[in-house]
Order: sequence, then structure tokens, then C-alpha cells
Amino acid sequence: MDKKLAAGNWKMNGLDADLAGFAALPNGHTEVLICPPTTLIGVLRSTLPEYIKIGAQDCHSEVSGAYTGDVSAHMLRTAGASHVILGHSERRDAHGESDYQVKEKTKAAHDAGLVAIVCVGETLAERDAGETLDVIRMSLAGSLPDGASSDNTIIAYEPVWAIGTGRTPTFEEIAEVHTCIADLLQARFGERFRILYGGSMKPENAADISSLPFVDGGLIGGASLSPESFGAIAKAIS
Ligand code: PGA
Repeated sequence: MDKKLAAGNWKMNGLDADLAGFAALPNGHTEVLICPPTTLIGVLRSTLPEYIKIGAQDCHSEVSGAYTGDVSAHMLRTAGASHVILGHSERRDAHGESDYQVKEKTKAAHDAGLVAIVCVGETLAERDAGETLDVIRMSLAGSLPDGASSDNTIIAYEPVWAIGTGRTPTFEEIAEVHTCIADLLQARFGERFRILYGGSMKPENAADISSLPFVDGGLIGGASLSPESFGAIAKAIS
């Protein structure tokens, strides 16, 4: 298995980011990726050292065309991205993205040579109803194209109710879902994919969470906005 991965999801933030601070992120046993808003991809790529990978937060499923306001995977690649987050719950919720759309976007990302970070996760109502593993199974089945492989796809398990709330599942709950995801991918694709945990990961819990079975790093929102906390997480999960 590859190194563990600390992936920062800046969401719609970062215009005033401390780029000198990020340029000093640890270059060691953890792979580091920052996914800023689209307009900052080129800036970060030309400012930060090569060992820090740059990713995007969404892409369109078509290569080009009359899609006002959208950006294609190929354009992101050209701007300097190597990865793209797809199917984040904030896009599934606020933009009505379906598993089918996420699958089409994932195919486009692969065609452009980007690694897709495909997000899945249950709502609090689904967890309380005991539906978590069913939701994960259906979402993975619908969001991943047949061409997905451990080279071009990373999965992020992000319980919707843990994102930006400071709440996290128990270690047992995280391990249960990650093991389920690993089993499902093994059964369909015959290999072991990287699986990130996302949702209120911070310096204090990163080491414990990333040492759980089938946890290969984190997708970090709020705590990725400062180089101090993101750097501390990157060190903690190595
Ligand atoms: P959070 O966000 O770390 O702020 O909870 C994670 C994410 O939405 O990817």
C-alpha cells in the first residue's frame, strides 16, 4: 500500500491563505494534497513545491461544450491539478448530484488523467435507522465506473453529520465502514483501494483514526485551512 494521504479540502476558502506556511508542509512519510477553489489551482501549483499535490473539488462530465460556469477535468489537469474530489456531500446536497452524475464525472476525471477522490457517507437519519452500510454499498455501486482502479480512484468515507460539526463516529464505527468499503471494492474490482476518512479530522484525533484498519489517511476540511493544523495532521497520520 502507498503512503498515507493527507488531503485538504479548502471548499470556498483560501484567498488569503498563508502560502509560505503551506510551502513548508512536512515532506516525509505522508503524501500531501491540497484541493483549493478552482481559481487558486494554478497559483498553488506554481507557488508550492512539487511534493505537495494540487487537486480540484469538482468537474463536469463533458470535455467541453455549452455548460456555463462549469470546468472540465481536462481543464483542471491543464491548470495543474492531479486529483479531483467528486460527489462531496455538499455537492450532492446543494447541487443535487446523483450517484449517476458522480459516476460520469469520475469517468471524465479518469479520461483526463486525474485521480478521482469519490466521497460517500450517510446522513444522521440514515445512521440512526441502521442504514449506514446499505447507503455506502448503494452509493459506491452507483458512483464508481467499471474502469475504476486503485491507480485512478481513492474513496473518502465522510459521514455527512461529522462534516464541519466537530463530531466524529466512534473508532469502531469508522473501522466497520472502512472494512465494508474495502470488502466491496475487493469483490467488484479485485484490489485494495486507498480509503480516506473525512469529517472533523483534526490534529488531536488524526493519529488514532488513521491507525484504524483500512484507513489510509484523511480528507480534511476546516483544519486544512491553516498550515499549522494541516501540517500537524499530516505528521500525525504518517
Ligand atoms: P471538515 O470537512 O474536516 O471541516 O469536517 C471535511 C470535508 O467536508 O471534506
